[in-house]
Amino acid sequence: MTEQKPHHLTFDEWDEANFPRPEVQDFDRVVERAISRRGFLGGALAFGSGAAVMGAGLLKGSTALAQSPVTIPFEGIAAQTDGTIHVPESYDWDVLVRWGDPLFSDAPEWNPQTGIPTEGSDRVFGENTDGMEIFDVNGANVLVVNSEYTNNDINLVGTATADGDSVAEAGTPSSADDVLRLQNFQGVTVMELAEGDAGWSVVVDSPLNRRITHLTPMTFTGPAAGHELMQTAADPTGMESLGTFNNCGSGRTPWGTYLTCEENFNGYFGATGDLPTGEVGAGYARYGISVDGFGYNYHAFDARFDVSETPNEPHRAGWIVEIDPANPESTPIKHTALGRFKHENAAYALANDGRLVVYMGDDERGEFMYKWVSANPYEEGGDTSTLLVEGQLFAATFADDMTGEWVALTEEATGMDAARIAIFTRTAASAVGATTMDRPEWIAVNPTAAEAYCCLTNNSRRGATNDAGEVLTNAGGDPMEVNGPNPRETNDYGQILRWRPENDDHGAVDFTWDLYVMAGNPTVHTEGPYAGTDNITAGNLFNSPDGMMIDSTGLIWIQTDGDDSNEGDFEGMGNNQMLAGDPVSGEIRRFLTGPKGSEVTGLTWSLDKRTMFVGIQHPAAPFPDGEGSLPRSAIVTVKRADGEMLG
Ligand code: FEO
Ligand code: CA
Ligand code: CA
Ligand code: CA
Repeated sequence: MTEQKPHHLTFDEWDEANFPRPEVQDFDRVVERAISRRGFLGGALAFGSGAAVMGAGLLKGSTALAQSPVTIPFEGIAAQTDGTIHVPESYDWDVLVRWGDPLFSDAPEWNPQTGIPTEGSDRVFGENTDGMEIFDVNGANVLVVNSEYTNNDINLVGTATADGDSVAEAGTPSSADDVLRLQNFQGVTVMELAEGDAGWSVVVDSPLNRRITHLTPMTFTGPAAGHELMQTAADPTGMESLGTFNNCGSGRTPWGTYLTCEENFNGYFGATGDLPTGEVGAGYARYGISVDGFGYNYHAFDARFDVSETPNEPHRAGWIVEIDPANPESTPIKHTALGRFKHENAAYALANDGRLVVYMGDDERGEFMYKWVSANPYEEGGDTSTLLVEGQLFAATFADDMTGEWVALTEEATGMDAARIAIFTRTAASAVGATTMDRPEWIAVNPTAAEAYCCLTNNSRRGATNDAGEVLTNAGGDPMEVNGPNPRETNDYGQILRWRPENDDHGAVDFTWDLYVMAGNPTVHTEGPYAGTDNITAGNLFNSPDGMMIDSTGLIWIQTDGDDSNEGDFEGMGNNQMLAGDPVSGEIRRFLTGPKGSEVTGLTWSLDKRTMFVGIQHPAAPFPDGEGSLPRSAIVTVKRADGEMLG
């Protein structure tokens, strides 16, 4: 390796010592781009000369620069590798609800070894909690939360067989009953919460409590609704589907509804015969629909999931779905105008003229970022029925000069009709040259400045080449060479991208961008881009930023879903965690560490902002019930010991 920047040198010192470089190799270019990112952050992080070159003009007029740094109201805690949760000393945590806890008094009782039986499996809190939002329904705290997927080896422990003679493998559904149980544990839970002397709890039997599963009836709006590619034998209208799938991150609308985001929907489908060819088959290749799926085996017991029988069924998943938490009888709506891809979350902003903007990421290596802009403005108390139906979908392009543009996915620009732009959105975005990204996870809009952030979690194949020396591509053939916002080859750590729309208007198509942070490990990689940006220190190491919310004070809450081995490149990072970052100074402190094996994902606040709700997904045993019990995903509460607000 050539000379890299020692961690103790400022960029200026390093710059003076090293220019001009004797030769430029690939790795140098990566470093240069990475440091250019630091330069753009100059106003925030004072990285030095790079700011003058890259950023000075771009930052003009930024409201963020006029902001004062946000006070991070706690001391950062140490990394942990144990099986429980840690928070700063002046905070307390408690379990609110676990997978299998009752929503209704007729729910089956949890069995510590076998969990919940199929009968009544839709009467309990679902598994693998993820995105969530809280709503004020006549003064009640109503929590709406996703259950992303099932850990089948835990759920199907009763049917597991150790020998090779049985049809049932451990964790593989061997009956329609097994399938139904898994379908019931996923989707969305709506539940009323109440706080008493003993803390927060679910209001069992609240009339607002509801489970939405893989079987719940839904309707479609938008350009794909009713299209022939959406029609099936069970639904010849192409207007009504059953269920919502792989509900990952969340969002909300200004009119008080919940947005659930269908991510890895492809994994639920399989085939007993041949896969379709032609346009439908090409779509399968782009979206990863295969003969075996992810092992859910639904297709062995339900022709709806057998794509050799029902080839259009996968077109009916992969959407943004709107749910009204105030009306348990309401039918969830799949809004096709917002595109079909592996939706992570949906973060809204309002354009300066009041139009609704929804930012969205497609979480797969080398896929894209999107935004929706409604045709009509949002008016409080006005008609909101068109705001997720009529408008324009855009895909993001990023230039290395720290500018970018949202490119409209129109029929003219893509050569596709409106229904196909909706159904095969990835293909439409490829057609306009959208920028391949390092797996866009959650996007968060800063309520105190005209800017938004996206966690680019990692991309182990970024910049990698095949045997012929060609750079690897996404599933659509778009190359994943190192590029501006994705500056590192073999990116195992991830970064958080930030953009500021032109004229501080989220409705604008032009923006400038920088990297808020590149995660890294300066104790293992003392120099170079894998050390991370200077706001990464030995005290706040993390990898794979994923969940993210920005609170009303402007503090950025970052949740991780990464390598928790605490070894090698990940030494010192410990378990997955939640950190808080100041958007202005760039300082980041560790707030919470999750139990071993878990991902920390999903965050919202009580209506009075005195309690934070944090999701713990796929923990290892013994969390949270102790030895001898199945591990259970759970939502925990975090409060300040002094009862003050936190967010
Ligand atoms: Fe479900 Fe991309 O996380
Ligand atoms: Ca995620
Ligand atoms: Ca993730
Ligand atoms: Ca996850």
